[in-house]
Order: sequence, then C-alpha cells, then structure tokens
Amino acid sequence: MKVSNSSSSSSSGGTEPIGQNLIKLISNLCFSFFVFSVLIFTVIAITYQPPDPWLQSAPALTQLFTRPENATFQIDTSIIKTGEDITPSPQDPSLPFPPPSSAAATVTEASIEKIEDKISNSTTSIPSAACSSGEITAGTLNCSDPRVLIAVQRFNLRAFKSIVFFEYQIPVNGSASNECDVAWRFRNKKEKSWRKYRDFRRFKIGITDDCRYKVVHAGGWHSGGNARRNPARATVPGGKGKTLPRLSNNSNRDDEINDTIPTLGSQVNFRNGKYLYYSRGGDYCKGMNHYMWSFLCGLGEAMYLNRTFVMDLSMCLAATYNPSNKDEEGKDFRYYFDFEHLKEEASIVEEGEFLKDWKKWDRTHLKKRKVPVKKVLSHKVTPIQLKKDKSTIIWRQFDAPEPENYWYRVCEGQAAKYIQRPWHALWKSKRLMNIVTEISGRMDWDFDAVHVVRGEKAERKDLWPHLDSDTSPDALVEKLKGMVRPWRNLYIATNEPFYNYFDKLRSNYKVHLLDDYKELWGNTSEWYNETSLLNNGKPVEFDGYMRVAVDTEVFYRGTTRVETFYNLTKDCKDGVKTC
Ligand SMILES: *[C@@H]1O[C@H](CO)[C@@H](O)[C@H](O)[C@H]1NC(C)=O
Ligand SMILES: *[C@@H]1O[C@H](CO)[C@@H](O)[C@H](O)[C@H]1NC(C)=O
Ligand SMILES: *[C@@H]1O[C@H](CO)[C@@H](O)[C@H](O)[C@H]1NC(C)=O
Ligand SMILES: *[C@@H]1O[C@H](CO)[C@@H](O)[C@H](O)[C@H]1NC(C)=O
Ligand SMILES: *[C@@H]1O[C@H](CO)[C@@H](O)[C@H](O)[C@H]1NC(C)=O
Ligand SMILES: *[C@@H]1O[C@H](CO)[C@@H](O)[C@H](O)[C@H]1NC(C)=O
Ligand SMILES: *[C@@H]1O[C@H](CO)[C@@H](O)[C@H](O)[C@H]1NC(C)=O
Ligand SMILES: *[C@@H]1O[C@H](CO)[C@@H](O)[C@H](O)[C@H]1NC(C)=O
Ligand SMILES: *[C@@H]1O[C@H](CO)[C@@H](O)[C@H](O)[C@H]1NC(C)=O
Ligand SMILES: *[C@@H]1O[C@H](CO)[C@@H](O)[C@H](O)[C@H]1NC(C)=O
Repeated sequence: MKVSNSSSSSSSGGTEPIGQNLIKLISNLCFSFFVFSVLIFTVIAITYQPPDPWLQSAPALTQLFTRPENATFQIDTSIIKTGEDITPSPQDPSLPFPPPSSAAATVTEASIEKIEDKISNSTTSIPSAACSSGEITAGTLNCSDPRVLIAVQRFNLRAFKSIVFFEYQIPVNGSASNECDVAWRFRNKKEKSWRKYRDFRRFKIGITDDCRYKVVHAGGWHSGGNARRNPARATVPGGKGKTLPRLSNNSNRDDEINDTIPTLGSQVNFRNGKYLYYSRGGDYCKGMNHYMWSFLCGLGEAMYLNRTFVMDLSMCLAATYNPSNKDEEGKDFRYYFDFEHLKEEASIVEEGEFLKDWKKWDRTHLKKRKVPVKKVLSHKVTPIQLKKDKSTIIWRQFDAPEPENYWYRVCEGQAAKYIQRPWHALWKSKRLMNIVTEISGRMDWDFDAVHVVRGEKAERKDLWPHLDSDTSPDALVEKLKGMVRPWRNLYIATNEPFYNYFDKLRSNYKVHLLDDYKELWGNTSEWYNETSLLNNGKPVEFDGYMRVAVDTEVFYRGTTRVETFYNLTKDCKDGVKTC
C-alpha cells in the first residue's frame, strides 16, 4: 500500500505514527490516498516552519492540497507573497537596528543644511545678470554646481513625503540649457523590504528673487535619461561563460540590475565543489505557488547540506496565468524573481553552466579522477541521511509517478525539522517592482486600495454564495463609502477582466486600475526593453502572473486597504465552512 509506505517513511522508529492513523481514518472517508498523505505531511511540515507567508492562512493551505483530482496547488490568483512581503517592516520598532547602509546616507533637511553651510562661501555666486532677469540664459547653468543639487533635494523632500532619499549623484546636463538630470536611490517608507530603487528625473531649474536656484518643473519617473549610470559600466566583464546579451553602446539601460548568470570560472576545481542537483520533477508547469514551495525546499536542503544548489532558470508557466490558456515553457526565472538578490543570499549555479563544467571535467580527467556522484532516486531518502555524503554531486532524481515526483516532498516529515525554506532569498523581480513603484509614484504614494476577487470564484455559488453580489458595482459603492473617503485615489486590484465594471465608483473616487498603466510594460517601456534582453531580443509577454504580482504589490502600498474576504463579503476565502 502506497499510503503506509509513505507514512512510515516519516516515522523514525517502529512505533505507529499519529499521521498514519489519521491517514487511515481519512482514506476510509473515500478521499484520495495521495492527496491526503500529501496533506498530512505538509501540515506536519508546516508546524515546524519558521515564519512563512502561507502559514498565516493554514486553512487556506490545507485547501490547496485537497483537490482530489489533482494533488497539486490550486491556482490562487489572490495574494502572492514572497520574501520581501514577510520580512519585518523597516518602520518596525522591534528591529534592533537598520542595516548600516540605509540609515547613514539618508538625505534630510538637516543634511542639506550642513552641505549648504560648507559651500556657501566657497563657490562663485550665480551670475547677477541671471539673478535680475530671474531666468537662466544659455551657458550660465552649471549642473554640477552643488547648489543645483540642493535645490533638487529640497524639492524632492517637499514633493514626496513618503519617500526616503539616499545617495544622490552629481546632476548632469539635461536636454536644454536650463535643465539638469539627477539620479538618486530611494525607498518608500511603506516598503516592506530594505530594497532601494533608482530614479533619475529631469528638472527645469529657475532662479528665485533672492538669487538661489529653484526647481521650476520636475519630470516624471525615469525622465532624466542623461543621469543614468555611465553606460561604460554596463558592458559585460571579461571572462568565460554565459552573460546577458551585450548592449549596444548607446543603450541607456539601468545597470542597477545585475542578473548575469554566475560562472564557476576556469580556475575552480570542479571536483572539489559540493553540489546538490535536483532534476526536473512533477512540479514543472504547475502553479507558481507550487513552484515556490518546491524550489525553496530544494534550496533549503542545499543550505542544510552546505552545498551549492544547481538551478534551472528556465521555467514553465502554468496555463492559468497565460492569456493563451496553455502551459508555456521557456519562461525565464528572472522575469518573475530577483535573481541578483538570490545570488547574494544563496550559493547557486545555473544548470547549463554546471553541466558544461561537469562534462568538461570528466572529459579531461582519468577514470578514477572522475566526479563522484551520488544518485538519489526517492524523496524518502532524507537530507539527514545525505549529510555525511562526500560526493561532489548529490543528484536527486524525480522519476516516480505523480505525486511522488514533487520536489517539496523532500521537505516532508522528519526533514521539516531540519530544513527551513529560505523565504528571505526569494524576492519579486525588481523589474516588476519598478512598475509597482511607478504606479504608486504616479498616485503620489497617496492612495487607498481595494482588492476585488471575482472571476471563477464569483461563479462558484456552491463555494462562495455571496461573493458575486457582494462585489457587484452597487454593493461596492455602498461598502466602500464607510471605509474610504470620497475623492481619494482608489486603486482596485482585481481579476475582473471587464475594464468598465468599476465605472460606478468613478462618481465617488479617482479610480485606478492596472490597465491604466499599460504603457509601463508596452513596447516603448523600459520593462519591455529589459526583458527582451533576457529573451535574446524577443519581446516578452506581460503574463497573468506578472499582472497579479504587480496588482498585489500596489495594493500593499495603499494607505487604507480593503480586502474582499473579511471586508467586502462574509464568504470564506477558500469556500464555504473554511473560516
Ligand atoms: C487539475 O486541475 C485542473 C484545474 O483545476 C484541471 O483542468 C485538470 O484537468 C486537473 N487534472 C487532472 C489530472 O484532473
Ligand atoms: C562663511 O562666511 C560667513 C561670513 O560671510 C562666515 O561667518 C562663515 O563662518 C563662513 N563659513 C565657512 C564655512 O567658512
Ligand atoms: C553642460 O552645459 C554647459 C552649459 O550649458 C556646458 O558648458 C557644458 O560643457 C555641458 N557639459 C557637458 C558634459 O556636456
Ligand atoms: C561647474 O561647477 C563645478 C563645481 O562647482 C566645477 O568644478 C566646474 O568647473 C564647473 N564647470 C563649469 C563649466 O563652470
Ligand atoms: C562600443 O564601444 C567600443 C569602445 O568603447 C567600440 O569598440 C565598439 O565598436 C562600440 N560598439 C558599438 C556597437 O558602437
Ligand atoms: C554582477 O554580479 C556578478 C556576481 O554574480 C559579478 O561577478 C559581476 O562583476 C557583476 N557585474 C557588474 C557589472 O556589477
Ligand atoms: C554546514 O556548515 C556549518 C557551519 O559552517 C556547520 O555547522 C554544519 O554542521 C555544516 N553542515 C553540514 C551538513 O555539513
Ligand atoms: C508597439 O505597439 C503598437 C501597437 O501595439 C504598434 O502599433 C507599434 O508599431 C509597436 N512599436 C514597436 C516599436 O514595435
Ligand atoms: C527601448 O529601446 C529602444 C531601442 O533600443 C529605445 O529607442 C527606447 O528609448 C528604449 N526605451 C526605454 C524606455 O528605455
Ligand atoms: C478589514 O477587515 C479587517 C479584519 O476584520 C479589519 O481589521 C480592517 O480594519 C478592515 N478594513 C477596513 C478598511 O475596514
């Protein structure tokens, strides 16, 4: 019997584990064997988990596994959380101290005054002709004059109250003689992670009556193209291996994102390395939540074993997220997640690089110097059992039929006590987050948000009897009245495909929907340019998962947040009788 096999694998001795009794009981209720063994083990696993974004909704998680026809994660298009959403907020007073790099360089009124004092005597004054005319004439404005930067810094502090500014660069010329382009790094005060973003804007500079510089006009997000990083730095450093496609010299890519695939280097003795290699399993082409749950299990095991994790950057996006409604292969991990951050947090190597170096080593060395490999055929071999293994490569293979071939099963049972999923290593793609930042920025970081779940759930009256009516336009107008003040910016995160569905709210609020910002991923956008580079120059589709990720993150940044479940409707998030 499969059930007793799999359950006894979780028990350390001969005593009958509680899990097994439970399984027996449940299978008597004529539910699927597999699903419930998965369910039980996962619940056991979860009890040992450190802070985990899905822990907060344990009933939701069990629901994920209780689809008898499919022992996999139910696609949930609601909130998708990653590492940065669960780390303590930078405003959290319980934090012992902020990371040193963040606090020190903050630009405040006080720091501006300090610099102002220092320069007031040392630099030549603004030409008096300019002062009297109040205008900047051709050739008189020197953008690298520190007083220009001071004017811009003051302006920014006034204009963007919820932003913390760091590290300004010396302004450079804009396109006209009275313009300067300025770059800086910043973080929104509401940001859950310490991640900084980069902006560079074009400012039109004028002169005040008392002969100081002032900002007359400020351009929008990323308008100051001349202030991007020196393009020379964007060239790919020498050395072997796969790097991002090289950019042409006049490209103005923001090289803040370093997505390059690391290489092992020719000097490294491959045989002396320690790798954990998971071959593709049943997780491929499943939902993104399933992917994360599995990937972090593998990465967690690698960390536990002090090994480098071999990762496949080529993903398959499940049909539910694709406008084509088909599973799509060949999606790059970097479209969705922050590979740069992952590289910093974990020891990883890209599968292609790894296989190449492995083959090369075996080709150039004698038989007895070949790379030692330990093949592991079943997820029932625990990480603890592999701890002593000295092989260069531990190769877990997942060839059993579903659901025995899911990566996350390695982390079930006993293993859950030792392996922690490294959620902190998995952040959303910075390219997506730049879109989130831009949308929030366009609403001046001052908006309320409502999450309206409709779609499939609204149609399933058996599971969500009131959802459809509770999210009807009239009900929304009524309910929001009590929660959001009139004429506020209202961002609606939703899976309702009909754009005009929310029109009734427009007579009370300034309504914003994701599709209002289409140009941010359209063919003239930075996102489009940058993702095409990851895709050998071919355009990348802004797919359903990206939409949900951006929609949700903007929602998180709202001042007042209204959720569908608990706020708009009394139906339970996961169907009747689940709350
Ligand atoms: C799994 O679930 C999906 C969506 O719920 C469904 O389309 C598919 O047919 C299911 N697969 C099996 C094997 O039942
Ligand atoms: C700048 O000049 C003023 C007087 O013009 C003087 O009081 C002040 O100390 C000077 N500051 C510096 C930093 O030299
Ligand atoms: C910037 O503009 C000023 C005058 O407008 C000019 O003197 C200077 O050479 C320009 N600098 C660069 C780097 O083009
Ligand atoms: C602009 O100002 C900077 C700093 O004060 C100075 O070093 C530079 O020589 C000036 N450039 C011109 C063209 O005046
Ligand atoms: C880019 O610049 C390098 C030197 O800076 C030059 O050798 C190369 O030809 C340039 N490439 C293009 C496409 O302009
Ligand atoms: C990008 O990161 C890799 C390490 O992952 C580093 O070796 C490389 O120098 C970085 N490139 C740039 C341009 O910073
Ligand atoms: C991994 O390294 C840490 C410290 O370097 C050590 O405490 C731990 O025992 C090592 N784990 C294994 C499985 O070797
Ligand atoms: C961008 O898309 C629009 C409409 O989708 C199309 O008309 C235009 O030609 C496209 N531009 C480029 C540069 O591909
Ligand atoms: C995208 O690339 C095209 C062609 O290289 C360029 O003309 C355009 O300015 C770029 N757009 C952005 C927003 O960087
Ligand atoms: C939504 O519901 C939660 C939980 O009941 C509550 O804490 C929160 O204040 C509600 N939000 C609004 C905007 O009323």
